[in-house]
Amino acid sequence: MNAEKKINKTDFLVIGSGIAGLSFALKVAKHFKDSLVTIITKTEKDECNTKYAQGGIATVWDETVDSFEQHIQDTLIAGDGICDEEIVRMVVKDAPERLNELIEWGTNFDKAKNGDYSLGREGGHSQDRILHHKDITGAEIERALIEQIENTENINFLTYHYAIDLITEHQVKKKETKRKEKITCFGAYVLDSKKNIVKTFASKVTMLATGGNGQVYVTTTNPVVATGDGIAMAYRAKAEVSDVEFIQFHPTALYNPGEYPAFLISEAVRGEGAILRDYEGNRFMHKYDEREELASRDIVARAIDRELKQSGAPHVYLDCTHIDYTAFKKHFPNITEKCMSLGIDVRKDFIPVSPAQHYICGGVNINKKAKTSIKNLYASGEVTRSGLHGANRLASNSLLEGLVFSHRAYDNLTKRFHKIEMPKNIPVWNDSGVKKNMEKVLITHDKNEVKTIMSNYVGIVRSNERLLRAERRLRGLYEDNKRLYDHSELSSDLCELRNLITTSYLITQFSKNRKENKGGFYSADLV
Ligand code: FAD
Ligand code: SIN
Repeated sequence: MNAEKKINKTDFLVIGSGIAGLSFALKVAKHFKDSLVTIITKTEKDECNTKYAQGGIATVWDETVDSFEQHIQDTLIAGDGICDEEIVRMVVKDAPERLNELIEWGTNFDKAKNGDYSLGREGGHSQDRILHHKDITGAEIERALIEQIENTENINFLTYHYAIDLITEHQVKKKETKRKEKITCFGAYVLDSKKNIVKTFASKVTMLATGGNGQVYVTTTNPVVATGDGIAMAYRAKAEVSDVEFIQFHPTALYNPGEYPAFLISEAVRGEGAILRDYEGNRFMHKYDEREELASRDIVARAIDRELKQSGAPHVYLDCTHIDYTAFKKHFPNITEKCMSLGIDVRKDFIPVSPAQHYICGGVNINKKAKTSIKNLYASGEVTRSGLHGANRLASNSLLEGLVFSHRAYDNLTKRFHKIEMPKNIPVWNDSGVKKNMEKVLITHDKNEVKTIMSNYVGIVRSNERLLRAERRLRGLYEDNKRLYDHSELSSDLCELRNLITTSYLITQFSKNRKENKGGFYSADLV
C-alpha cells in the first residue's frame, strides 16, 4: 500500500451513497454548477441500507384524511419522550415537498386503481401514510437517484473508496483537539481499495452520510457495509455524539439460520393485517399492547423476545394466510418470492420470524441545518442524531430524515458556501513504519467477537452485569486492535474492525449511563 502524494481538491466531499448522500450531492451539484462534487462510497454505487428499504416513506399526503399533527404525535409517542419536538414538527411538515422532489427525480411510487398514490400502514402510525414501491422502495429510490447523478456533469462518483478518517486541526496542525473546542473539517483520508492506495481529499464542505452500524450485531437486517464508520470517524475527530444506546430491533426478520444479513419481513405486512403467533400457533400481542401487532417496534420486538425466552422456541410466526393472496403478492412480490424459495407458501404456511438489529436512533449530533459540532462538517441520515427519533424511530421515518436534512444542509450552504475557502497545507497520509499484515484471520476473529459480545450483552434486554462484561471485553479488543492498526498496512477490513469496536464501545458506555428505560433501551435492572 502507498500513500498518494498529491492532494485531491473538491468543493464538496460526500461520504456515502444512500438516500442522504445522493440527494445532497444532487442538490449541491445542480445549484453550484461550477463546483466539483465528489461522492465516495465503500463498495458498489447502490450498496447501502437504503437499497434494502422495503416499507416506504412516511408523509402526510392527503390532508382530508390525515394531518401533520397526527404524524407528529405518532413520532413523538414512538420516541418515548426523547424526541426534539421542534425537529419532529419541522421534518413532518417538510415531508410532502421532499417527496414531491423525489417523484420529480423519477422515483415511482405505487398507485391505487383511482390513480392516487397507494398509502400503506406500519406500526405506530395512526393513519395510512407510507408511500412505497412494492416491497422494494429503497431499491427504486437508489435507481432514480443514481440515474440523476449519472446525468449530472459536475459529480465525480468514486466506488470502492473507503473513508478512513476526517481531516481536522489534529492532522493539519498536529495538535490534540478536544471535544468542546472549535474544530474544522478539511476533508478526509480515503483508501482506494482497488488500487490499494490512500488518497488525501481536501474539501471545502464534507457531508457525512455513512448510514448505520447493524454489523456490530450477529443478527441484523443491515448489509455488510453498515459498520458504524461515520459515527466512529466523527467521534475520533471529536464531534459530539449522542443517543447511541437506542438501538432498534425489527420484530420480524425472517428466521433462516445461516442467512446474513437477515431478510426483512416488512412491517407493512402487519399493516396489511398479518398476525403474530407463538410457536404453538397462539396469538400473544394482546398481552403487551392494545395496538397489538401494530404497536411500535420496540414494544413488539420486546414482546417477541419475552415469548421466545419463556418458551425456549427459536422463533415465532407471522400468519398471512387470511390475507387476499393476489393483493399480498402485488404489494409484496419480493417477500412472497423469498418465502416461496424457502418452501414457505404464504397462502397456507406461517412465516417463521424473530427480531434482528435494524437501526441506530442516535449518532452524530446535528442541528436543524444538518451541521455537526465540527465546522464545515455536515451529516445526514442514519449516521446522525437529529432529534427526530428519540428513543425509538417510528417506521418509515428514516428515509424521510435523510431527505429532509440533506435538503436543509444544501439550503444552509446556499447562504454560506461562497465564504468557505479551499483548505491549505493538508498533509498527505503518513504510511511510514507499517508492515504487511500476515495474519488477516485475526481481523475476522475479532469482528466475530465484537458481534458476539454485542448480541449477548447489549441486545434487546440489557443489565448492569451484561454491560460491564461487554465493556471489559471490548476494552481488550480495543487494545489488540490498536496494536494491529498502528503497525499494519491498512485495509478496509482493519478500518471497519476499528470502527465496529469504537461504535460498540460507545453504545455500551451510553447504555451504562442511561438511568431510565425508554423506547429501544431496556435494562432489566431499571424495571
Ligand atoms: P445508507 O443508505 O446506509 O448509506 C450509507 C452509505 O455510506 C453506503 O453507501 C455505504 O457504503 C457508505 N459508507 C459507509 N461507510 C463508509 C466509509 N467509511 N467510506 C465510504 N463510504 C462509506 N427506513 C424507512 O424509512 N423505510 C423503510 O421502509 C425502511 N426499510 C428498511 C429495510 C431494511 C432491510 C433496512 C436495513 C433498513 C430499512 N430502513 C427503512 C432504514 C433505512 O433504510 C436507512 O436508515 C436509510 O436508508 C439510511 O440512509 P443513509 O443514506 O443514511 O445510509
Ligand atoms: C419495514 O419495512 O418494516 C421497515 C420500515 C422501516 O424500517 O422504517
